[in-house]
Amino acid sequence: MPKRFINKVALITGGGSGIGHATALAFAKEGAKVVVADVDDNRGKETVKMIKDINGQAVYIKTDISKPTDVQNMVKMAVETYGRIDILFNNAGIPGLPVRLAELSVEDWDRVIDINLKGVFLGSKYTIQVMLEQGKGVIINIASASGITPTPFVSVYAAAKAGVIQLTKAMAIEYGSENIRVNCICPGFIETPMTSVIIPPDLESRDYSHLWPLTKPGSPEDIAKAALYLASDDASFVTGTSLVVDGGWLAGTSLPLSKGS
Ligand SMILES: NC(=O)c1ccc[n+]([C@@H]2O[C@H](COP(=O)([O-])OP(=O)(O)OC[C@H]3O[C@@H](n4cnc5c(N)ncnc54)[C@H](O)[C@@H]3O)[C@@H](O)[C@H]2O)c1
Repeated sequence: MPKRFINKVALITGGGSGIGHATALAFAKEGAKVVVADVDDNRGKETVKMIKDINGQAVYIKTDISKPTDVQNMVKMAVETYGRIDILFNNAGIPGLPVRLAELSVEDWDRVIDINLKGVFLGSKYTIQVMLEQGKGVIINIASASGITPTPFVSVYAAAKAGVIQLTKAMAIEYGSENIRVNCICPGFIETPMTSVIIPPDLESRDYSHLWPLTKPGSPEDIAKAALYLASDDASFVTGTSLVVDGGWLAGTSLPLSKGS
């Protein structure tokens, strides 16, 4: 398999679980040195162990992405350890409580915005300073299909992810001339620890055939592949875009009609 990221450094927030974990492994398999940042020490260290088990290079740093001092330390440690940051994957996020807007507490609103939107701002703010000195860099943000078309009970999550889409465009136009590309991925329903709370994997009646054209949920590896594409030279003319990876969900819903002849 060709290794696209030899001598590159990838910093991945929320790298301990789900999409971040799969993406950290995927970058490592293609030669990148990986900095795994997470609030969950056990999961973050497990990702690093798995990378080292396949003879990859990785370090873990505990980081709460919503705290400016944590994020500054994260960036400092990445540079002290590997000398540069070529790729930033702003992936850490939380779902928020599944309630309608009037039942949403002010504390929950602040928490989701702080992690899902402000976290992208902070990660980018401090990493861009490094990328400007390097003269290049790639940032990939995780938004969501919900940031384009919300489902019920996700108001603050949808608002945060819509913010990420706009922030992506704003950063792309501000830093394109300095060779920094910024894109986001809008996943649909991906099977991870986050979504297993919403739809448990062992739920017998899991029938997605009427929900998505591809009739099944995505895997974390599906999103990892999209992230590696956006980080690679294959995407050298791609910036400011939102790559929807959703099994066709946003293309439209289907009714269970009988097939025409
Ligand atoms: N799974 C999906 O269907 C889906 C769909 C659209 C978007 N997303 C987005 O993808 C991203 C990853 O989601 P996932 O499904 O892999 O979730 P996950 O819960 O499996 O992983 C999220 C990781 O982020 C970490 N994290 C949480 N808060 C943090 C903080 N303050 N600072 C640092 N790390 C923190 C967690 O410890 C965890 O390791 C999220 O931003 C999520 O909103 C997921």
